[in-house]
Order: sequence, then structure tokens, then C-alpha cells
Amino acid sequence: MYAIIGGSGLAKLSALSNVRRQVMRTPFGEPSGAITIGTFAGRDVVFLARHGYGHTIAPHEINYRANIWSLKELGVQGVIAVATVGGVRAEYGPGTLVVPDQIIDYTHSRKSTFFSGTDAAVVHVDFTQPYSVGLRALLLSAAARCGEPVFDGGVYACTQGPRLETAAEIERIARDGGDLVGMTGMPEAALAREVDLEYAALCVTVNHAAGRGSSAQRIELKELDEVMQTTVKRAVCVLDSAVSHAPAAGGAP
Ligand code: HPA
Repeated sequence: MYAIIGGSGLAKLSALSNVRRQVMRTPFGEPSGAITIGTFAGRDVVFLARHGYGHTIAPHEINYRANIWSLKELGVQGVIAVATVGGVRAEYGPGTLVVPDQIIDYTHSRKSTFFSGTDAAVVHVDFTQPYSVGLRALLLSAAARCGEPVFDGGVYACTQGPRLETAAEIERIARDGGDLVGMTGMPEAALAREVDLEYAALCVTVNHAAGRGSSAQRIELKELDEVMQTTVKRAVCVLDSAVSHAPAAGGAP
């Protein structure tokens, strides 16, 4: 069974049917909301709205540990994370879909590991490839079946938020090799790795990052909504195709 974590613009998966809700409590507190379990693309799917169903939880206040722990507890094998981003690289303009392959983490002060405290052995997980190769391939082939152009790869730079970046910060991110900028990719991806959940992201670019392209002077937040709605709709088609072609539990990812 796969989970979809919906970000801005995807607080609800309206194509989910036979829906039931499951309230979860974890050793790390409560997730962003009740977990929704239902049928999507003919398969059992778990859905969670990252920012809460009323979109009230800011990126730095999301309980990423409770979210990932809950999905693991429910027996999920993989997580497809949908996230809106700003485009740093010129080709990643508003309305593009990207399946990133790398991450740079600029966040701070977030609870970013399950392995804390002094009463257990120190654990380091390999994170060389932060996204599941199999799940990335599933998303890319799904996009091809939908006829949706999607960029294969890109470095997701995760900033702390909730404010948007300065032009100089985006310049620095570009120099570091960042292609996309968002606020929620970390520690979500790392926590998924810590509990052995496959994890990949489908990013929806809604604006040029600060100081670039149409955001040269400022980011017009009012204008983001429309592109977000239309692009998220395209992303849902990709999700549908990915889930319907996903390998069953124990199969090759
Ligand atoms: N920066 C950070 N996060 C974002 C952006 C951005 O420009 N657009 C959408 N999410």
C-alpha cells in the first residue's frame, strides 16, 4: 500500500473513494490530521494532508516525525510526496512538474530524526540517494503515460520558511547547485529513510524563485493560486497512473 502526502493545493484527494479516517497517536505526538484511507486508482491508498486539512500548519511547525511514523504504522510501503516549489533553474518555471533526485537541507531547529536521546545506540542512515530509485521511475513512467512533460531530476533545496527567500539566498542556492526551492521536503525524506519507507517527490513549480524571471522584483503570491490549481490537477493524473501501476507489496519497487 502506498501513501500520498499532499502539500499546498492538495489538501484533499477528491478521487479517493470508500474513505475512512484513522486518528493516529505516535510516540512523537499527533500527525497533521486524521489519516484518510480509501481507494484510488483501484488500489488501497493512504492520504495525509501535510499542512492539515484546513491548511493551517506552517512548514516549520509540521510534525514530520508523527506523520511518517503514522504511515509506517499503517503498513505503508512507499510514500509519494507532492510539494509545491519555486523554480531556481530557469527551465523549471511555473507550471512544470519535476521529480527531483537530490536534496540540500537548509532547514534548522526541526525535529529531524527518530534516533535521538541518550538511551539508545547512535544510528546513521545512508542518504546518498535521498529518493527511492524505484518510486522515482514509477512517477516518471506514470507522467509519460499521462502525456505530462516532467523533468527527471533536480536538486531540491529545502528552506526553513515560512517566509519566502531573498534574492541573495536564491543566488546562493543556485551556486550550491539547487534547482528547486521548497519548505517541506526535509526532514520528511530523511525520516522516511530512517524507517525504511520508499519515498519520492512529485514537485509542482508554482513560481520563479525570488529574484528570478517573473519574480525578479517580488513574488506575487496572489498569482500563484491559479497555476497551483491547474498544475496540481495534472499532478493528480500522474499520481493516479503511478498508483495503478505500483508494484504490490514485496514486489520490485
Ligand atoms: N520558495 C520556497 N517554497 C516555495 C516557493 C518558493 O519560492 N514556492 C512554493 N513553495
